Amino acid sequence: MSNNHQILGVKINKSDQAELTNSLKQLDGFIWDMLIGLSAIAENVTVDQVHAHTRRCMAYTRIILDEMLISSMHDDDRDLIKRRPEYYDLIPRCCGLHDIGKSQIPDHLLNKPGKLSTQEFSYVKEHTLNPFETFFSFLETHNTNPFIIILKDCVKHHHERYDGSGYPLQLSGNDIPLVARIMAVVDVIDALTTDSSYSRRRSVDETFDFLISQRGIAFDPYVIDATFRQRQKIQAIANQDSQ
Ligand SMILES: [Fe+2]
Repeated sequence: MSNNHQILGVKINKSDQAELTNSLKQLDGFIWDMLIGLSAIAENVTVDQVHAHTRRCMAYTRIILDEMLISSMHDDDRDLIKRRPEYYDLIPRCCGLHDIGKSQIPDHLLNKPGKLSTQEFSYVKEHTLNPFETFFSFLETHNTNPFIIILKDCVKHHHERYDGSGYPLQLSGNDIPLVARIMAVVDVIDALTTDSSYSRRRSVDETFDFLISQRGIAFDPYVIDATFRQRQKIQAIANQDSQ
């Protein structure tokens, strides 16, 4: 029987463990690039834009989660990573795809300078829920896949606020899934330190001033503390991409 199979066109060489590991790595990279490419089409932006935003979100999340693990985090979150070690790798990846629901929101609302009307804002808020009627319902047979479980949590809850005043479900504290509590901070770091059509880019100092002002209000104190302890690394990524 041949040692060579293919999945989605990627050759899976099972002749020895090293070849198999290499093949699976290639398959993983291929599937990930397909996801990014498809989200670029859906969001009507260039692959470079999606790549840069995804890469920064994943990098910030990795840094913050690593810092929480070596310093301090809520016991429930530490237990979760212990019980489900795959979450450690999957959380940053899911954070890279948090806004897939924006593909169904018209560009003129997403890029509107200044404040949105109440009606416009309620429409934009739908980006946390609309993937459940489309993308996730298509993936129904994969409901127990941990990547899908974490991605659902991230997409639905990344605009919840720690004090319970966010959306869509007004969850508070640790009822907000860990991935979404980290993504809430990462989202603000990336939004404030990059150019957008709706607001000017803020300095890293201004961004961190805002983050600390929202510690325990919009954001999980553990996530904010880890972010501050790793400020230099986060600043280096933000500055590198702004040049
Ligand atoms: Fe969002």
